[in-house]
Amino acid sequence: MNNTRSAWQKDMDHVIHPYTNYRYFKTEGTTIFRSAKGYMIEDIDGNRYLDSMAGLWCVNIGHGNQELAEHIGEQARTLAYFNTFENAGSVPAAELAAKLAELAPGDLNHTFFSTGGSMANDTAIKLVHYYFNQLGMPEKKKVISRDLGYHGSTYLAHTLTGIAFTHMGFDLAPDLVHYVSAPYHYRNGGDMSQAEFCDHLVAELEQKILELGPDNVACFIAEPIMGAGGVIVPPPGYHLRTFQVCRKYDVLYISDEVVTAFGRLGHMVTSKDVFGFEPDLLVLAKGISSGYVPLGATMISDRMHEVISRPKPENPSLTHGFTYSGHPLACAAGLKNIEIMEREDLCGHVRTWGPYFEAALQTLADHELVGQVRGSHFMMCLELVRDKETREHFPPEAEITRRVYKHCKSQGLLMRPIGPLCVFSPPLIFDKEAMDQTVQIVAASLDAVAEEIHLQGT
Ligand SMILES: Cc1ncc(COP(=O)(O)O)c(C=O)c1O
Repeated sequence: MNNTRSAWQKDMDHVIHPYTNYRYFKTEGTTIFRSAKGYMIEDIDGNRYLDSMAGLWCVNIGHGNQELAEHIGEQARTLAYFNTFENAGSVPAAELAAKLAELAPGDLNHTFFSTGGSMANDTAIKLVHYYFNQLGMPEKKKVISRDLGYHGSTYLAHTLTGIAFTHMGFDLAPDLVHYVSAPYHYRNGGDMSQAEFCDHLVAELEQKILELGPDNVACFIAEPIMGAGGVIVPPPGYHLRTFQVCRKYDVLYISDEVVTAFGRLGHMVTSKDVFGFEPDLLVLAKGISSGYVPLGATMISDRMHEVISRPKPENPSLTHGFTYSGHPLACAAGLKNIEIMEREDLCGHVRTWGPYFEAALQTLADHELVGQVRGSHFMMCLELVRDKETREHFPPEAEITRRVYKHCKSQGLLMRPIGPLCVFSPPLIFDKEAMDQTVQIVAASLDAVAEEIHLQGT
């Protein structure tokens, strides 16, 4: 009997979806996808869409890459799984860790593998705590994160996340994480220039460290460009200067590059190449394997590694790990993915075409619903407003971006609506035709929603 139900019905009856609005899900269900190739994806009814979000900021080399699929299959036939606990390892994990050490800046030479960004961030915080415990500084535990930062959804990563509406109804780890302002000039900059705003943010971070007590603050965590919190590009110099403040007080800097690494901004890793600093920890996921197999990585410096690898007198083991740490399929996928990215010079493609994509989206800046177009390269968004002058948002119940999303979808484009934002994070193979089509569909969808508002109000 069950077998006769459609996948759509089974999904509605049995799958608990992440980040899902139940007001609609219970009646409308969801769109079930069955196949994808390049930047196109097809649902079970045969509708085809341009994927301008690379799945979820992750399918960087594009969908349906046969070389990567074959390689994963080959690894599955050769060695699908064995654990990587103390007495074991696998060739792909060793090779990928060595490759990451080559790609990462400075002395970030050591990698702990997990299965996604949240676990990689949890690992980062646990290793930082362990590090200070090993150094005999057990009070140095607090974490400074930022309003609107997105760091994941496990208990700890959710606590690191500074997006207030995601916290509603959930509990967070108490008194562990403290938040400073997002570098969100459009909303928080007031009359300040970018340079003055940067001064203000750097002073705020220093003040927060002093207020909590440098002896109590273990680390600062930040995305180079904030992703889910609003594709927020910080003022020039912000990362280097916040890094210098952290150094001054021996606060470790965790760069969460889950979205920005592996090409989205035209570089494999951006902290050094784009923002000019070398973090103490680097967190990777998503584009590391282009999402073909779940993979997360937490990279630490030689300095940290030297300390955490010291056997404790009472227990010589580092008791942190997951069944799937260093999973051979995931690591093989990561290695091959990086090989393909390098061979096809996808970073070069993004550096060449990113400015075109930015400029094409900027043509929408004058639209009556658009407050700001912002982002960098293949990480862009439109922030929609009711009033361009005051920058007032539409009330949440107007569900403005959901409406734009629906119009886009009906014309064959998938983008990601988040609050007042329409977000674009396409596969790195996005070409001029796909960019032009994206902008043209978004423009028509904005017009359609504006027309609805004129006729019916919000
Ligand atoms: C910057 C950042 N960090 C961490 C995460 C969490 O990654 P995951 O969903 O793989 O746990 C995300 C997910 O979007 C992210 O954007």
